[in-house]
Amino acid sequence: MEKLTGLKKIKTAVFISGTGSNLKNIIKFSKIIKSPISIDLIISNTNKAKGLRFADQFNIKKKIFNFKDFKNIEKKILILLKKDKIKFICLAGYMKILSKNFIKKFDGKIINIHPSLLPKYRGLNTHSRAINNKDKFAGCTVHYVTAKLDSGRKILQKRIKITAKDDPTSLAKKVLKQEHKLYPAAIMKIFN
Ligand code: GRF
Repeated sequence: MEKLTGLKKIKTAVFISGTGSNLKNIIKFSKIIKSPISIDLIISNTNKAKGLRFADQFNIKKKIFNFKDFKNIEKKILILLKKDKIKFICLAGYMKILSKNFIKKFDGKIINIHPSLLPKYRGLNTHSRAINNKDKFAGCTVHYVTAKLDSGRKILQKRIKITAKDDPTSLAKKVLKQEHKLYPAAIMKIFN
C-alpha cells in the first residue's frame, strides 16, 4: 500500500447504511495527526441511515444513492469518487453488495468490518449464529473486500469471550466496542 509523504492524507470515502457508530469513530480517528487517511465523503444507499448526521456534524460531504431510484448506480458512484479524488474506501455497515467491476476499479483499496471471526459466519445475524452454535468466542474482523462476500484477506481480527449471560444484543454491544478499536488499528496497519 502507498506510503504517506509529509502530511498529505489519503482521501477516503466511508459507505454506510445504518447507525454509523463505526463511521463516527473513523472520522474521529482520521482527525488525529498520525492518521494516514482523511474522510472526505460519506456515501449511503438510504436517506434513513442515522449515521448521515455525522456528515453534518463533522462537515463532510455526503451523498445518498438510492438503488431503487436510479439505474447504473455504481457507475454514478465511481464518477463521484473520481471527481472527489477518493483513493480508499471503508465500508462500515454498508448493506449493499458491490459488483466485481466496482471492486476491480478499487482493487485492494476497499476494506470492511464484519462482526464475526471470519471465515466463520459470513453474512448476517452473526451473533445469534455464534450463540446458537454454543461458540466460546465471538469477535470482529477487518478485511479487504473482494467479489466474494466477507471473504477477502484478513487485516486484523479481535476475539472476545461469549459468556453464559450473553444474548445477541449484549454480544453485539460488546463486539461493537471492539470494532471501534479494531477499525483504526487496521487502517494504521495497512498504511504503515
Ligand atoms: C457493525 O457491527 C459492522 O461490523 C457491521 O455492521 C455494523 C454497523 O454498525 N458490518 P454501525 O452502523 O457502524 O454502528
